[in-house]
Amino acid sequence: MVSLDSPITIIRPEIIEFGVGTAERLGKWASDKGYARILVISDAFNATRVDTLGLKGEITVFADVTPEPDTANLDKVLAAANAADAQLVVGFGGGSAMDLAKLAAVLAGSSQTLREVVGPNKVHGPRRVALAQVPTTAGTGSEAGIRALVTDPDTMAKLAVESIHMLADIAVIDPALTFTVPARTTAATGVDAMAHCVEAFTNRKAHPMIDLYAIEGTRLVGKYLARAVKDGADAEARAGLALASLYGGFCLGPVNTAGGHALAYPLGTRWHIAHGAANALIFPHVLAFNTPSVPEKTRAVMDALGRKTSDDVQSVFDAAYSFCADLGIEMKLSALGVPDSDLDAMADDAFAIRRLLDNNPRDLARADIRSIYEAAY
Ligand SMILES: NC(=O)c1ccc[n+]([C@@H]2O[C@H](COP(=O)([O-])OP(=O)(O)OC[C@H]3O[C@@H](n4cnc5c(N)ncnc54)[C@H](O)[C@@H]3O)[C@@H](O)[C@H]2O)c1
Ligand SMILES: [Fe+2]
Repeated sequence: MVSLDSPITIIRPEIIEFGVGTAERLGKWASDKGYARILVISDAFNATRVDTLGLKGEITVFADVTPEPDTANLDKVLAAANAADAQLVVGFGGGSAMDLAKLAAVLAGSSQTLREVVGPNKVHGPRRVALAQVPTTAGTGSEAGIRALVTDPDTMAKLAVESIHMLADIAVIDPALTFTVPARTTAATGVDAMAHCVEAFTNRKAHPMIDLYAIEGTRLVGKYLARAVKDGADAEARAGLALASLYGGFCLGPVNTAGGHALAYPLGTRWHIAHGAANALIFPHVLAFNTPSVPEKTRAVMDALGRKTSDDVQSVFDAAYSFCADLGIEMKLSALGVPDSDLDAMADDAFAIRRLLDNNPRDLARADIRSIYEAAY
């Protein structure tokens, strides 16, 4: 386990603008920098409101980012980026758009291919373009981080690229952009933010410098997620979640997630279940499984979520389950169209994600993973 004197590296965007009404500050920043050719990478919904960013100059909008993007979607983005020859790339959307913007910023005009940069520190620098990130969901925290995830359709696994060269020059976090997120997506993405915090907090590599963000991010989700699901225009609740998402992003860089995300990934890659919804479904199972290894931290998590538990594993499971179920999230795999004949293949896929499973505070054997999928079915 890590302790207070363990080395850690913290990397953040140089500028973080935060608060309702800050979106248009991006335009002022870009003008001051003299960026005249700008490529905005976005999804169909957000592409219709690029004007809220106040950008000036020759602006190209890529509007076709798909949720949980795959390599084919990235290829389209790279073709657009090569054609636009932009000075500034802007990721405008949820984690899907921001992750593809990161990859476009380093791969467009480069001799390196996606395959050559998968893993940590493979991207050759320096980056030739500036990069700005503007999140429109409160979930991934991708705006603050150096990772990008793309699904490989052949293996149905997430390819993870990690590079300092994908760090944004500026992140503009305007909670007002999230008012339009539908209740279901609000719930799922909010649990994703919480999962980043909880999995970093209970992590084998947990560090006191990050625990601060992790537990506060968890508390913000406990306080505000139900409110935002109920009333999407609740500005205070939306701001609380945007902050929780950012704090989750702070957790991902130096510590990262663990068993929860490893078990959630096959639900997204094999069955296209939204990333946050998959995390929510898995969350109570892994939290309860890990409780014997990190009892104090588990208690702190449940306190932060505002749910009373005893030291008993079942009570942790019940409280975590009802936290997610009360948000209207479907908590049964069978109800999401996953056939039980796939549980073995899912367990194989999850068990192969060593980069995350090795962070888990308690060893998750393949049989444990299979049992969790069975219980979640
Ligand atoms: N880079 C990282 O560190 C990191 C961390 C966690 C997750 N991720 C990745 O992020 C992706 C998921 O991102 P996400 O959960 O933000 O979802 P998303 O970006 O896929 O968006 C989900 C849906 O919400 C819509 N949407 C986005 N903003 C909206 C708004 N303001 N109003 C209405 N609709 C809106 C999108 O069009 C899309 O249909 C996954 O690929 C996941 O692997 C990356
Ligand atoms: Fe996540």
